[in-house]
Amino acid sequence: MGSCFSVQIKAESPLHAGSASKHPSVPPTPRSQAEILQSSNLKSFAFNDLKVATRNFRPDSVLGEGGFGCVFKGWIDENTFAATRPGTGLVIAVKRLRQEGNQGHKEWLTEINYLGTLYHPNLVKLVGYCLEDEHRLLVYEFMPRGSLENHLFRRSSYFQPLSWNLRMRVALGAAKGLAYLHSPEAKVIYRDFKTSNILIDSKYNARLSDFGLAKDGPVDGKSHVSTRVMGTYGYAAPEYMVTGHLTTKSDVYSFGVVLLEMLTGRRVIDKNRPTGEHNLIPWAKPYLTSKRRIFYVMDARIQGQYTLAAALRATSLALKCLSVEPRSRPDMDQVVKALEQLQDMKISANSKSEVLQKHRGA
Ligand SMILES: Nc1ncnc2c1ncn2[C@@H]1O[C@H](COP(=O)(O)OP(=O)(O)O)[C@@H](O)[C@H]1O
Ligand SMILES: [Mg+2]
Repeated sequence: MGSCFSVQIKAESPLHAGSASKHPSVPPTPRSQAEILQSSNLKSFAFNDLKVATRNFRPDSVLGEGGFGCVFKGWIDENTFAATRPGTGLVIAVKRLRQEGNQGHKEWLTEINYLGTLYHPNLVKLVGYCLEDEHRLLVYEFMPRGSLENHLFRRSSYFQPLSWNLRMRVALGAAKGLAYLHSPEAKVIYRDFKTSNILIDSKYNARLSDFGLAKDGPVDGKSHVSTRVMGTYGYAAPEYMVTGHLTTKSDVYSFGVVLLEMLTGRRVIDKNRPTGEHNLIPWAKPYLTSKRRIFYVMDARIQGQYTLAAALRATSLALKCLSVEPRSRPDMDQVVKALEQLQDMKISANSKSEVLQKHRGA
């Protein structure tokens, strides 16, 4: 586990700062902090309760670490929300803001603003928050299977590699979560879709978390919102990095990156790989549409669990999401449909032997 003191570098360009305010007609009017905290159905925790619930933020209860801070495991009573003995009551994950300053507070409030009002089976549930002196914390339902990042990239006996079927299940769940965010009902751009922000519950449902960078989608027929460029290198869409113009298609690009990571078992950027393999997308691209060479880039840990046809469908979906031209990318509803069709493709005896043959011949 990390030190919980390191700082994750997020891509940030002040060049595009504040351009959203150029459009006086941009509704909806942002809600004030008091409105956000009052209107949500969330419990306001005292700092001391969370301190006790996490046994004084014990280092051995750290579940993960991101740009915002460390996340600790804790236990509270389901009805009174008071801290309980470890192993009893409701298991929670407590995210504690590390950074001083405005950006951290803004992300904390943004997360409450969205997760306090959006409900979907593929979003993580926010239980409450703490705002006391300089303390800023968020309290979520605990996700027993951790993040997709841990399953794909952590080599430990605790995290077994996910099977092909489970990868497709998680991909579909995450796609449904994004499709909901983009729907007219929610109209939100997530902006930080990556494997560490996709959590997995006990039934292997994907649950999106970490809404600190989320944004209201464009209104009044506009195609994009103008923003400061924030997000994570490797996952952010190229046109967004250049212009700061954010659209739902920026999220679709990030989805393509994650899908490709799931298929190959490789990180989008990995400086530990040999030269020429640091950037997953340009390295993998030539192999992804080739019936004979696709197996070269597929994750060896799921070898033999899928048909050639299914693998080609999945890689072609990832490639469409990664189109340089945003308009060529599918929308998330189409991605959901494509992944549902993929789930329906069952391995027949014939196609299974075809997979094995191709492996030998590859
Ligand atoms: N509800 C939760 N249940 C279990 N683990 C969690 C939960 N929330 C976060 N984590 C772990 O902590 C990590 C960082 O959480 P995240 O919300 O992404 O923080 P940040 O905003 O700092 O990026 C996740 O990648 C995951 O491993
Ligand atoms: Mg995160």
